Amino acid sequence: MGLMDLIKSFSMESNFVKIIIIDRLGKEHHLEAPTDMNMNLMELCKSYELPVEGTCGGMAMCASCQIYIESNHVSLERSKDEQAMLDEAWNVQENSRLGCQIKLTTQLNGLIVKLAPETATDEDW
Ligand code: FES
Repeated sequence: MGLMDLIKSFSMESNFVKIIIIDRLGKEHHLEAPTDMNMNLMELCKSYELPVEGTCGGMAMCASCQIYIESNHVSLERSKDEQAMLDEAWNVQENSRLGCQIKLTTQLNGLIVKLAPETATDEDW
Protein backbone atom coordinates (compact mmCIF):
# COMPACT_ATOMS: atom_id res chain seq x y z
CA MET A 1 0.00 0.00 0.00
CA GLY A 2 1.43 3.38 -1.00
CA LEU A 3 1.54 6.36 1.31
CA MET A 4 -1.42 8.03 -0.39
CA ASP A 5 -3.55 4.88 -0.02
CA LEU A 6 -2.66 4.88 3.66
CA ILE A 7 -3.60 8.55 4.05
CA LYS A 8 -6.89 7.92 2.25
CA SER A 9 -7.73 4.95 4.42
CA PHE A 10 -7.16 6.98 7.59
CA SER A 11 -9.04 10.03 6.43
CA MET A 12 -12.35 8.99 4.97
CA GLU A 13 -13.56 12.56 5.47
CA SER A 14 -10.71 13.97 3.40
CA ASN A 15 -11.41 16.22 0.51
CA PHE A 16 -9.41 15.51 -2.58
CA VAL A 17 -8.69 17.50 -5.70
CA LYS A 18 -7.20 16.26 -8.97
CA ILE A 19 -3.78 17.53 -9.92
CA ILE A 20 -1.82 16.61 -13.04
CA ILE A 21 1.95 16.42 -12.76
CA ILE A 22 4.01 16.07 -15.93
CA ASP A 23 7.31 14.39 -15.14
CA ARG A 24 10.68 15.02 -16.79
CA LEU A 25 9.99 12.42 -19.47
CA GLY A 26 6.71 14.12 -20.40
CA LYS A 27 4.53 11.49 -18.72
CA GLU A 28 1.32 12.74 -17.08
CA HIS A 29 0.50 11.61 -13.55
CA HIS A 30 -3.08 12.21 -12.43
CA LEU A 31 -2.89 12.56 -8.66
CA GLU A 32 -5.50 12.86 -5.97
CA ALA A 33 -4.42 15.54 -3.53
CA PRO A 34 -5.88 15.92 -0.02
CA THR A 35 -6.84 19.50 0.81
CA ASP A 36 -7.34 19.06 4.53
CA MET A 37 -3.97 17.71 5.59
CA ASN A 38 -1.89 20.85 5.34
CA MET A 39 0.26 19.34 2.59
CA ASN A 40 2.08 21.20 -0.16
CA LEU A 41 2.85 20.24 -3.76
CA MET A 42 6.39 19.08 -2.99
CA GLU A 43 5.10 16.70 -0.31
CA LEU A 44 2.37 15.47 -2.66
CA CYS A 45 4.93 14.61 -5.35
CA LYS A 46 7.09 12.78 -2.83
CA SER A 47 4.17 10.83 -1.45
CA TYR A 48 3.47 9.53 -4.96
CA GLU A 49 7.18 8.77 -5.35
CA LEU A 50 7.73 11.24 -8.14
CA PRO A 51 11.36 12.34 -8.46
CA VAL A 52 11.20 15.53 -6.40
CA GLU A 53 13.87 15.82 -3.73
CA GLY A 54 12.62 18.53 -1.39
CA THR A 55 16.06 18.56 0.20
CA CYS A 56 15.40 21.45 2.60
CA GLY A 57 12.12 19.99 3.79
CA GLY A 58 9.98 22.84 2.48
CA MET A 59 11.89 25.87 3.79
CA ALA A 60 12.31 27.56 0.35
CA MET A 61 16.06 27.01 0.70
CA CYS A 62 17.02 24.45 -1.96
CA ALA A 63 14.89 24.82 -5.14
CA SER A 64 14.94 21.04 -5.63
CA CYS A 65 11.13 21.22 -5.72
CA GLN A 66 10.98 23.72 -8.59
CA ILE A 67 8.00 23.24 -10.87
CA TYR A 68 6.43 25.07 -13.79
CA ILE A 69 2.79 26.11 -13.45
CA GLU A 70 1.01 25.15 -16.68
CA SER A 71 -2.55 26.25 -15.83
CA ASN A 72 -4.00 29.34 -14.20
CA HIS A 73 -4.96 27.78 -10.87
CA VAL A 74 -2.01 29.21 -8.97
CA SER A 75 -0.72 32.75 -8.78
CA LEU A 76 2.77 33.20 -10.17
CA GLU A 77 3.45 35.71 -7.43
CA ARG A 78 6.33 34.54 -5.23
CA SER A 79 7.09 35.39 -1.63
CA LYS A 80 10.35 37.23 -0.90
CA ASP A 81 12.10 34.03 0.27
CA GLU A 82 10.83 32.06 -2.69
CA GLN A 83 12.00 34.75 -5.12
CA ALA A 84 15.42 34.89 -3.45
CA MET A 85 15.81 31.12 -3.84
CA LEU A 86 14.66 31.13 -7.46
CA ASP A 87 17.10 33.96 -8.22
CA GLU A 88 19.88 31.48 -7.48
CA ALA A 89 18.32 28.42 -9.10
CA TRP A 90 18.85 26.93 -12.57
CA ASN A 91 16.25 26.62 -15.33
CA VAL A 92 13.98 29.27 -13.87
CA GLN A 93 11.13 30.40 -16.12
CA GLU A 94 8.37 32.98 -15.76
CA ASN A 95 6.02 30.26 -14.52
CA SER A 96 8.47 28.75 -12.02
CA ARG A 97 7.38 28.25 -8.41
CA LEU A 98 8.71 26.21 -5.53
CA GLY A 99 6.35 23.29 -5.00
CA CYS A 100 6.84 23.44 -1.24
CA GLN A 101 5.39 26.95 -1.17
CA ILE A 102 2.10 25.90 -2.73
CA LYS A 103 -0.40 24.56 -0.21
CA LEU A 104 -2.97 22.08 -1.45
CA THR A 105 -6.34 23.82 -1.45
CA THR A 106 -9.67 23.22 -3.15
CA GLN A 107 -8.88 25.97 -5.68
CA LEU A 108 -6.18 23.73 -7.16
CA ASN A 109 -8.61 21.23 -8.66
CA GLY A 110 -7.43 20.64 -12.25
CA LEU A 111 -4.01 22.21 -11.72
CA ILE A 112 -1.35 21.18 -14.25
CA VAL A 113 2.32 21.46 -13.35
CA LYS A 114 5.58 20.24 -14.88
CA LEU A 115 8.62 19.16 -12.91
CA ALA A 116 11.65 21.37 -13.59
CA PRO A 117 14.87 19.59 -14.58
CA GLU A 118 16.88 18.19 -11.72
CA THR A 119 19.41 20.65 -10.38
CA ALA A 120 23.02 19.68 -10.03
CA THR A 121 24.19 19.37 -6.46
CA ASP A 122 27.69 19.66 -5.05
CA GLU A 123 27.96 15.89 -5.13
CA ASP A 124 27.62 15.91 -8.91
CA TRP A 125 30.86 17.85 -9.30
S1 FES B 1 11.82 21.76 -0.68
FE1 FES B 1 13.49 23.07 -0.65
S2 FES B 1 12.78 24.81 -1.69
FE2 FES B 1 11.10 23.50 -1.70
